[in-house]
Parts: sequence; C-alpha cells; structure tokens
Amino acid sequence: MSQPLVTFEQLSVSFSAERGRARAVQEVSFTLNAGQTIGLVGESGCGKSVTAMSLMGLLPPQTASIDGGAIRFQGQDLLTLSSSNMADLRGNQMAMIFQEPMSALNPVLTIGEQLCEPLIRHRHQSPKAAWQQAITLINRVGLARAESLMASYPHQLSGGMLQRIMIAMALSCQPKLLIADEPTTALDVTVQAQILTLLRDQARANQMALMLITHDLGVIAQMTEQVVVMYAGRVVEQGPTAEILHNPQHPYTKGLIASRPVPGERRRRLYSIPGQVPDLTALPAYCAFFDRCERASESCQTGIPPLVGRMRYVACYHCEKVGSLS
Ligand SMILES: Nc1ncnc2c1ncn2[C@@H]1O[C@H](COP(=O)(O)OP(=O)(O)OP(=O)(O)O)[C@@H](O)[C@H]1O
Ligand SMILES: [Mg+2]
Repeated sequence: MSQPLVTFEQLSVSFSAERGRARAVQEVSFTLNAGQTIGLVGESGCGKSVTAMSLMGLLPPQTASIDGGAIRFQGQDLLTLSSSNMADLRGNQMAMIFQEPMSALNPVLTIGEQLCEPLIRHRHQSPKAAWQQAITLINRVGLARAESLMASYPHQLSGGMLQRIMIAMALSCQPKLLIADEPTTALDVTVQAQILTLLRDQARANQMALMLITHDLGVIAQMTEQVVVMYAGRVVEQGPTAEILHNPQHPYTKGLIASRPVPGERRRRLYSIPGQVPDLTALPAYCAFFDRCERASESCQTGIPPLVGRMRYVACYHCEKVGSLS
C-alpha cells in the first residue's frame, strides 16, 4: 500500500491555563490517505481544532506546547520542520478554511489581491498570470461576474460568497490536503448544502484529501469515508464512516448518534448525553467518559482504555470484541 498522506502518531498538545495545564489533545493517532475524506467529530472543546491547527503548524506558540508524538505529512515529521519550511507547505501542499471566512480575509485588500498573493508567492507566477488564474478559480467555485468580484472588498460579499472565495484561495495551489473547520456553521441552511457539495466535488476533481471538522453527524455521513470520534482530547472511536454510524461501539459514539435529530422523525424529546465534558486541567487517570457513561463499571477506573482494533478502532473496556469485527 502507498504511504499515507498524513499520520498522527500519539500526538499530545497542552495549553498553559490559570488552573494548570489543559490537556487539549492526548495520544491522538490516525492516518489519512491521499484523496480520502475524513471527519473529526465530538462535542465542543474535545480537541478537533487543536488537532487540525497542530497539523497546519498554527498553534499559538506562547501558550501551546506539543508534549509528544509526531505528525507526518508524506512521511516527513512536521514537528521538526523550521517555521519557514512549514510556511512553504501551508497554502501550497495543505490549506485550511474556517468557520468565519471574514476573519480569515484581510478587510483592506480586494478579493483579487488576496487570491493572487499565494499564486505569486508559492507558484512564482507573474501578476498577470495570477490574475487570469484567479478568475478561473472564481468560476470554478461557482461564482459569476469574476472580474467585478476581484475588485470587491470582503465586506461587500455575503457569507456564502466569502466561503466560496476561501475555497478558491485554498484550491489555488492545488494542495494535497484541505482542512475545513466547521466551514458551514455560520451560513444559512440552503447555502450550507451548496458549500458542502462544492467542497466534495472539488476534493474529488483535484484528488485532494479532505479533513472535515463538524458537530453534525449528518454532514459526516454525507461527506466522509472515515470518521474520528474525539472525547476530552482523545480518539475514542475511529473507522469507516458507514460502519461506525450504523454500528457504533463506544458508548459516547452511541450517545452522539442518539442525540442527533433525525429529519422526518418526530420525537417529543431529543436524547442528550447526561453530564458535562470534564475539566481538561484535571482529567482522571481512567476513562474520561466514566461519569457520563451508561456502561460504566469498576473496571473502567483501572486506567485509560487503549485504542484497539484493526481498520476500526475503539477505546473502551466494554468493547474489546471490536478488533475482531473487521
Ligand atoms: N489558544 C488556546 N489557549 C488556551 N486553550 C486553548 C486554546 N485553544 C484551545 N484551547 C483548549 O483546548 C481545548 C480543545 O479546543 P478545540 O478548539 O480543539 O476544541 P474543538 O473540539 O474544536 O471545539 P469546538 O467544537 O467548540 O470548536 C479546549 O478545551 C480549549 O480550552
Ligand atoms: Mg473547533
């Protein structure tokens, strides 16, 4: 088999906080192959964005520290790269789009200037060639009147249009990986579906791997081949999306699926997982889901359950059979 595009190996990241160190990501391991789509899902604060920002080399250096592990991109450990080598990779080999496109764009530069900049910097194109390619990119992401858009400033565009511009910018250097962190959360429902379709089509057309971060299991089902379920900074379940959604093993994954609104199905009350996510500065030395888990028993307090399996993985002392499922 060919080399994976991205490999997380036991990555741990913490932040200095007033009450001690917040263990945002702990021993996270998973791989992403070229052209594959993977979803990261889990409640707010479980470490999805920190995982993505570690890969992009965009953690805030003042507060974040990488406590261990490796992140390989085409075999190369990114954590050992210089910041200038990392800057070369970003936007060139990998790109990222965010929830709020407005905050990622410069308000005082035109859309055209911002689209041309990576083409001139990374691809060493002439300003004229970059301008032509920017127009092609704008057309490719489904926006009309490219020339007049190029002369516009970000505040003149709607949220959906700005997100399309961000996608155009991300695609401009034909990256091997696109990370999309809640790319549609800030948009109207109708625009959300269009942006997701655009992302999927562009990923396929350009053989680009897509790492999609979302709270929405419906989006995960529709968009991804693999899914990583995170809880309190750790991967608790991982594997092919269809298998995990139809046959979840970890009690947390089961809870997430049960708490998802199903279109067309009327329920008086939606299930919600009882309790709250634990304090990341005071995590227990055993399963972090213990307090909220329906299946919790004494054995769950013996240690941190390891992520075990083959093809699909689960970290739960009650799910040891999962390794033999695949
Ligand atoms: N810049 C930062 N400084 C301090 N702590 C941070 C910082 N960024 C993230 N954290 C901590 O790391 C934890 C994980 O955050 P992260 O942003 O990865 O969560 P998330 O899964 O993306 O959540 P959400 O769904 O709300 O975006 C959080 O609990 C947060 O307290
Ligand atoms: Mg996030």
